[in-house]
Amino acid sequence: MKIGIASDHGGYALKEAVKRHFNAIDFDDVGTHSAESCDYPDFVALLCRKIQKGELERGIVICGTGIGASITANKMRGIRAALCCNEFMAEMAKRHNNANVLALGARVLGDELAMRIIARWLDSSFEGGRHQKRLDKIDGIEKAP
Ligand code: RB5
Repeated sequence: MKIGIASDHGGYALKEAVKRHFNAIDFDDVGTHSAESCDYPDFVALLCRKIQKGELERGIVICGTGIGASITANKMRGIRAALCCNEFMAEMAKRHNNANVLALGARVLGDELAMRIIARWLDSSFEGGRHQKRLDKIDGIEKAP
C-alpha cells in the first residue's frame, strides 16, 4: 500500500515520526524535507495532484494545526480531506465520508495520539449506501459553476 505524505515545517517532525512508526508502509513523501520555514499549500497541493491523477489513492497532510493543510486539500477537486483530532473522527472520516486525505495538526496532537488516529483511519472502511449518496451531492456542488 502506497500512501502519500506531506507537511510544512510545522508538521515536519511528525511526518518523519509517522514514517518511522509505520515502517511497513511505502510512503510517497512529497516534502517538505527539512524544518526550514515553508508554505503548506505547496506540499499539500503536490500530494493532492497525485491523488487526482490516480498515482496515489490516499494521503496524510500535516501542518501546525492541520487547518491550513485541510483547507488547501479541500479546494482540490475529488479530495475529501478530514482534519481529525481523535480516533473516533478518523474512523468516521473513512466510514461515512470516505476521506482520501487525513489532515493532522502536529502542534495539537501528541505523536502517540497521531499514530493512533492514523492507524484507525487506515483500518476503517467506507460504508457506502446512504453515505455514497451524500458524497455524490458533494461532487455535484464541486462541479457546479
Ligand atoms: C505555520 O507556522 C502554521 O501556520 C501552519 O503550520 C499551519 O498551522 C497552518 O494552518
